[in-house]
Amino acid sequence: MSEVNLDDIQGLLRFGFKHHTEAVILLLRVKDPAAARRWLSEVEVTSAVTIQPVPPTALQIALTRAGMDALGVSSDAVGGFSEEFLEGMAGDANRTRRLGDVGESAPERWDWGGREREPHVAVLLYAMPGHLTGLQSGIESACAAGFDVVYRLSTTDMGGVEPFGFADGLSQPQIDWERAIPVADQEERAYRNLSCLGEFVLGYPNEYGLYTPRPVLDASRDPQELLPRAEDSPNSADLGRNGTYLVIRQLRQDVRGFWQVLNSRAGGVDVEREWLASQLVGRTRSGESIAVERPTTAVASASAKGGAPAPDPNDFTFESDPSGHRCPIGAHIRRTNPRTADLPTGGAGLLSRLIRTLGLNPDARARDLAASTRFHRVLRRGREYGVQVTPEAALRLPAPVDTGLHFMCLNANIQRQFEFVQSAWIMSAHFNGLHNESDPLLGNRTPGSGGLRCDYFSLPAADGPTRRLENLPQFVTVAGGAYFFLPGIRALRWLAAE
Ligand code: HEM
Repeated sequence: MSEVNLDDIQGLLRFGFKHHTEAVILLLRVKDPAAARRWLSEVEVTSAVTIQPVPPTALQIALTRAGMDALGVSSDAVGGFSEEFLEGMAGDANRTRRLGDVGESAPERWDWGGREREPHVAVLLYAMPGHLTGLQSGIESACAAGFDVVYRLSTTDMGGVEPFGFADGLSQPQIDWERAIPVADQEERAYRNLSCLGEFVLGYPNEYGLYTPRPVLDASRDPQELLPRAEDSPNSADLGRNGTYLVIRQLRQDVRGFWQVLNSRAGGVDVEREWLASQLVGRTRSGESIAVERPTTAVASASAKGGAPAPDPNDFTFESDPSGHRCPIGAHIRRTNPRTADLPTGGAGLLSRLIRTLGLNPDARARDLAASTRFHRVLRRGREYGVQVTPEAALRLPAPVDTGLHFMCLNANIQRQFEFVQSAWIMSAHFNGLHNESDPLLGNRTPGSGGLRCDYFSLPAADGPTRRLENLPQFVTVAGGAYFFLPGIRALRWLAAE
């Protein structure tokens, strides 16, 4: 087993650059391939080695398939990337439909991205307060000979909350940088938050104990040994190793609509409105999981005495709340991470296991429909943009404000990770025994094929029938997006030299 060369991995895979509260994403198109390659071969990219001491600025680079073509990367190298990356986020009508990019969110309406306006390169700039303007102007002039800046995705530091007002960035998969998880396809009986390195970095074994397909080239294509060698094929040059895929989607949020609609459903009662909002997300605005029955008085009195550690916001599963009485089955965090193991829960005995494996346990059948979570994790790196308004101010807004999330996530397999979560868990009108409802925060409410409605939201109750909200409007619209490859740093230099 070879060691992990953090100096070849872009920092975003290890760090969220949280101290870098200023950020912008520059979307570039190649105008002079030779000059563009020159800049890419020299530009200083922040690696994953350390974030201490915090550098004043950081820079990350990612490329689309169109970008590789425009730079003149040979087609056999490009052809080794995954099908969805090669086709692009909006490159296929079926994919567009599955991702929920229809109606208001259709690619034809996007501000950037889509077939005609696909960016070639994304330059992600992060800076400590006061350092962004200088960094951005320096980079824009340095790359001007090779590139046109076609779009600038600006960001707003909202102090750890997303535009609807909820604490964000709380739950993340923990990556097995030490490679402690055995390389084997073995059944996991319990949910674990630790993910195999290969789920997020190409060139290492994934949760199946396999190497995710990636471009691996004959060593003759890399005579200067710019590229690392492939762990599973030591005589080949691994263009994928230490890289990953970056998904960027600009998600416009209707903050005014969100709070005004919830307020009217709550009959104008503040406590009811907050409760409803927390049911949609699965967490309170301050980030507490509503699936957990917390001994709040004990926690409060312990922390009043000083020193009691705050409870881990991620130390829970939904096992003790199978019917969704505390946290609705369809809540955003329960859809995007059902925290399931490979089998539905049950006893440890052989018979119980057989019954569960064969799907004969009627209680488990509905829950069985949510796939094992460990194959569908994403590492979120999004940034907020636009005008921040409090929920209270949103109730009084006469007109919408322009705000939202530049959703970004990293994953080694876009189809099995981002696309699966987005289509099967967020957008599908059928999820885990629910029907006619998609994600209450993100769902596109355009009826599906055959006029299938997806604008309900079920609130199961322990002491009565399930309450169902109806006619939930759409709160999030897609305004742009693309799939990128975030290469290892040696792979970036190889692509620039090709
Ligand atoms: C405007 C769009 C979105 C908003 C406002 C939003 C909001 C939130 C909030 C408030 C949380 C809980 C806090 C946290 O754990 O960070 C969360 C968690 C999460 N979201 Fe989203 N989200 C959005 C889009 C998405 C998209 C597009 C995906 C994936 C395709 C996604 C996947 C997740 C995941 C995986 C979690 C963590 C669940 C867990 O492990 O508990 N979100 N989101």
